Amino acid sequence: MRKKLVAGNWKMHGNLVENKQLLSAIVAGLDGLLNVQFVVCVPYPYFSSVQSVLQGTNIAWGAQNVSQYEKGAYTGEISVSMLNDFKCSYVIVGHSERRTLFFESSLIVAEKFAAAQRVGLTPILCVGETLEQRETGMTEQIIEEQLSAVVNLAGVESLNKAVIAYEPIWAIGTGKTASPQQAQDVHAFIRKGVAARNMSVAQDLTILYGGSVKANNASELFAMPDIDGGLIGGASLVSSDFIAICRALHN
Ligand code: PGA
Repeated sequence: MRKKLVAGNWKMHGNLVENKQLLSAIVAGLDGLLNVQFVVCVPYPYFSSVQSVLQGTNIAWGAQNVSQYEKGAYTGEISVSMLNDFKCSYVIVGHSERRTLFFESSLIVAEKFAAAQRVGLTPILCVGETLEQRETGMTEQIIEEQLSAVVNLAGVESLNKAVIAYEPIWAIGTGKTASPQQAQDVHAFIRKGVAARNMSVAQDLTILYGGSVKANNASELFAMPDIDGGLIGGASLVSSDFIAICRALHN
């Protein structure tokens, strides 16, 4: 069975007081919803406080990035075992902001993906094209390159314990959502690409859509056959919006 998932990506937002208010509202709003998995990916310093609010609830927590290295002289980096210490379940790898602003190549992203899986974390692998790439007909080529970097390093079966998030870069934080059909076309392309390598992995693969998902467009996106949930940025910081998006997937 393909799992359904809504993941919040807080990015570099929040503080101790606001996080507590946001989380207690979300915990109350999602109480008792069991057919969908929920996760919030929070900034590193808040793991401990987030863990104390969320443990025992139906909401998991995770990170937005992680080092590809196990340990050592890597000033400023955070390892997968450190995430494990705080009982993280998920980690986002290859978000376009990491690829673009911090120069992470597809190979580095694949190494982070593999490192996460080595300690039992579920990577949420982000893939997506720029507007220019879309307009020049390169979307599928870009997605295939980003996906095959991971498959070549970790093997197609690694996707059994991973989630893919299709996030067109032109839709992230812009208020310009991909239409349900545009998103569905790329999701189907991703699933087809995985199916060509392993049919059963493809059938069970959870593929999220991300990029300006809001309370008022979530239902139509989630209605598409290959969209299994969402990766939510801005709207994950507003409890009523995040709850509405989560409920749109649950229904
Ligand atoms: P957005 O961000 O929902 O604010 O567009 C999505 C993301 O970057 O994961």
